[in-house]
Amino acid sequence: MKENDLMKDIVALCKRRGIIYPSSEIYGGFANTWDYGPYGVLLKNNVKKIWWEDMVQKRSDIVGLDSAILMNPKVWEASGHLTEFTDPLVECKKCHKRFKSDSLASNSNEDVEFSKKLNIPELAARYSVGKQCPECKASNWATESKQFNLMFETHIGSTESKDNITYLRPETAQGIFVNFKNVLDSTRVKLPFGIAQIGKAFRNEITPGNFTFRTLEFEQFELEYFCYPKDADADFTKWREARFNWYVGLGINKDKLRLTDHPKADLAHYAKAVSDVEYEFPFGWAELEGIANRGDYDLAQHQKVSGQNLEYADEDNNRILPYVIEPSGGVDRATLAFLVDAYSEEQVNKTPLLPEEGLGEEGVTPHLTSPYQGEEKRSETRTVLRFHPKLAPIKAAILPLVKKDPELVNMAQEIYAELKSSFFVEYDEDGTVGKRYRRQDEIGTPFCITIDSDSLTNKTVTIRHRDSMAQDRINAAEIKEFLQEKLQ
Ligand code: GAP
Repeated sequence: MKENDLMKDIVALCKRRGIIYPSSEIYGGFANTWDYGPYGVLLKNNVKKIWWEDMVQKRSDIVGLDSAILMNPKVWEASGHLTEFTDPLVECKKCHKRFKSDSLASNSNEDVEFSKKLNIPELAARYSVGKQCPECKASNWATESKQFNLMFETHIGSTESKDNITYLRPETAQGIFVNFKNVLDSTRVKLPFGIAQIGKAFRNEITPGNFTFRTLEFEQFELEYFCYPKDADADFTKWREARFNWYVGLGINKDKLRLTDHPKADLAHYAKAVSDVEYEFPFGWAELEGIANRGDYDLAQHQKVSGQNLEYADEDNNRILPYVIEPSGGVDRATLAFLVDAYSEEQVNKTPLLPEEGLGEEGVTPHLTSPYQGEEKRSETRTVLRFHPKLAPIKAAILPLVKKDPELVNMAQEIYAELKSSFFVEYDEDGTVGKRYRRQDEIGTPFCITIDSDSLTNKTVTIRHRDSMAQDRINAAEIKEFLQEKLQ
């Protein structure tokens, strides 16, 4: 399948199955904003829950925080966002559209890399001269490119003046730095320790796109891990590996993941080292998460601008400004990577169409006892999301084999009611069992539990496994334990 088609298929599946919808669709949509549907919100919540469990709950050296989106604008002055968080843009004088200067470079990597080294007037000169506007095809550019700040501005109160400007935060990290002293004063944390936060961030991106990969509004999971300066290099290495392994542990294909170290010459002024966890999306390798050694830049800046002492005092009252290691990831990007990695299409034997045909023999390889062996028309494409069970929105579907048998329906509903208090499960009695399996495959449900006439006599059920399509029989009384074990 072509890479572009694959992205299109994933976007279409997300819409069809209630995972992700285009935002404000009844009004024609709103470019580069997306809404998570009933299954998407479960998937994204699972990503956040697993991160929070791994980073905060299971560790004794990390605490959590939930800081405000709107902050005193001095925060952004101190952090450097007001002056540095910019992209150079050139304006077409005919249609007045603005473009990132380096995006007008030819597509060769060399050209793009070279463009990053140029200052703004050089960029404008090199890339606007002789180039056509991608929008209106004119070649009439403003002579200088302008710095464009990516922060969304808003005003507090009923008047709009420069005195009441504030910003939608472009990262959650600064909320952590400005609360560093509060956390020191109100908890018993000792260096090294981390403060973790999950929350929304906003950026007026010039080149958003690739579905939920780059959007204007997104969620981040960020950890600021404070340490003694002498330990910073070792902690950076530990976090770099830990974060790579986190994605692998949740089932992402290791061959599609890599760690890329930023060359020292390209580092931002505050960073001592940066490494990105990258995933190979259908549109190419792209960053999922950055791990940075930010030194004491942020605490030093906030100390300077706020006038507050942000030093850490150890037991002997030695006072230092800790260094910080920052693993900073995007929840939506991670969710998209899990979705893309889980997506697969395969040719399988069709399951029986009629309930009375039994549970049937699904399978990639025709089963010897299959009544449909060799029948071309019985083959179909199965779309399946092979999520790790911990990520799957729905953990199990409960399916009575036939809807018209009240005893089967009763037993299935009892099992459903019992499981529902512990897991996200679904009850489905509509359509053939084969169709119900396919519906669950498309939202990535790892287990289907079918109740048939044998279930009534011997109190067993069939568990159908999403990935292998193999079927086992287990005691109805053991289903909860089975699911708990699989979700470990
Ligand atoms: N505090 C450091 C920081 O914010 P960043 O590399 O700018 O670093 C961290 O952002 C992560 O946030 C990225 O690795 C990415 O996963 C996510 N992210 C950044 N901009 C995004 C956008 N426009 N849309 C979706 N996710 C984004």
